[in-house]
Amino acid sequence: MVTDKKIISLTVKVGLVLFAVCILAPISLMVLFRHAVPLQTLRLLFSAGSASSVAWEEVKMYSANEGALLCECDMSSLRSDVCELKGDVRVILSNVTIIALLHPSVSVRRRSWRMKPHARKNDGHALTNVTEVLVSVTPSSPYAPGCTAESAAPAVVFSAGGYAGNMFHDFTDVLIPLFITASRFRSDVHLLVSDAPPWWLDKYRPLLRGLSRHAVIDMDRQSADVLCYPHVVVGLSFHKEMSIDTAKTVGGHYSMADFARLARRSYGLERDTAIRLLHGSDNIKSPRRPRLLIISRKTTRAFTNMGAVAQAAAMLGYEVIVGEAEQHSDLAAFARLVNSCDVLVGVHGAGLTNLVFLPPGAVVVQVVPLGGLEAMARDDFGEPAGDMGLGYVQYGIAVGESTLAELYPRDHRVLRDLALRSEYLVGQNVTLDVARFSGALSRALELLHH
Ligand SMILES: *[C@@H]1O[C@H](CO)[C@@H](O)[C@H](O)[C@H]1NC(C)=O
Ligand SMILES: *[C@@H]1O[C@H](CO)[C@@H](O)[C@H](O)[C@H]1NC(C)=O
Ligand SMILES: *[C@@H]1O[C@H](CO)[C@@H](O)[C@H](O)[C@H]1NC(C)=O
Repeated sequence: MVTDKKIISLTVKVGLVLFAVCILAPISLMVLFRHAVPLQTLRLLFSAGSASSVAWEEVKMYSANEGALLCECDMSSLRSDVCELKGDVRVILSNVTIIALLHPSVSVRRRSWRMKPHARKNDGHALTNVTEVLVSVTPSSPYAPGCTAESAAPAVVFSAGGYAGNMFHDFTDVLIPLFITASRFRSDVHLLVSDAPPWWLDKYRPLLRGLSRHAVIDMDRQSADVLCYPHVVVGLSFHKEMSIDTAKTVGGHYSMADFARLARRSYGLERDTAIRLLHGSDNIKSPRRPRLLIISRKTTRAFTNMGAVAQAAAMLGYEVIVGEAEQHSDLAAFARLVNSCDVLVGVHGAGLTNLVFLPPGAVVVQVVPLGGLEAMARDDFGEPAGDMGLGYVQYGIAVGESTLAELYPRDHRVLRDLALRSEYLVGQNVTLDVARFSGALSRALELLHH
């Protein structure tokens, strides 16, 4: 998904400080406690080349006496860095500092590093709105800030910044990674969030409640509290766009279908299965018609002939609803509408994220505008739909169905050059060829014979 204003800047941010922490600390531990720290626990990967291209595979730090893991950072993902700290971990809310206090018997020098706990780590533009966290691993000392609250539950620290408010980004960058990271704690976990505007917390509160039975802690409220935990995860694990790779989950337990189930349950949605049409029989006799929701967009990538499309869908036997998913609208109400439907139709864009509320067995029809967007469209919504147990139909529009065709002569470079993405995403509306599109709607009906 490309937002109109997004500029991807690939900043190779190699945490040299972290490099020092997580290499020097284990090495000094190894030297001191040669027998307690098995060599194979240090798995560091170096890429050939200059020092600045050091790649992180996995970083671990063990306590010498019990061999317990104290610090583990995984920097290998292109999307997020995640560190786990165990023992006596203190979160100072006033300046977003996390201190892991080591037992005095472990002679490690104080190490600290900064990280942005958001699953878009190479996108400098998104990260401008992400608060940096200072993490410090330091020997226990009487000067460490005292706890104002102690919890036996673990905590997950993350930022909702970045492209907050764009529903696709809210799910793919924050909520789904949060589910991946936090569900192993089975709701007994504190969620510590930064850069989350109040409306964002309200909009997603049902889902956040589904992930944690404790109230969300808003780190931006500058409280003087120092919260103490036995286990803190900083950052969110990312698998793939809008979805979950079950093989990578802890114990292989969670799938995107589980996330969708949680989303439906959180918003009180009742339908757990889409209408099932019968083969070869007269479906007109069935108690209701399959419901089709067309998500309309107002300004960019808008349908120009919505009336004709709705009419064609009704002719095929659908009950047609046209809805608009507005940025700050009442998500719970829109989720109910989506859940009542069997087919969701929309042009590639954040509104299609509402597919998480469809009942399993329902079908998503994604209309893909001109611009070489097919693969991205499939990654963003097609694959996730399949992972959630939804049917999927991708409809790539023909040149004649784009309003760009009215603006440019037929062989103009805009109609050929795939590099002009912003032109495609911002400057194009869609006039569906009703006869051609009816084929896609019929295919969706076939898929409802599930
Ligand atoms: C954060 O606040 C704590 C407690 O007031 C203080 O000890 C610490 O030095 C501060 N850290 C930074 C980086 O300002
Ligand atoms: C960052 O936040 C500011 C203020 O809320 C907003 O105007 C800006 O668009 C945001 N930047 C990004 C990349 O979303
Ligand atoms: C697309 O349609 C919307 C709504 O009718 C309109 O405001 C916008 O200017 C149109 N854009 C193009 C490129 O035609």
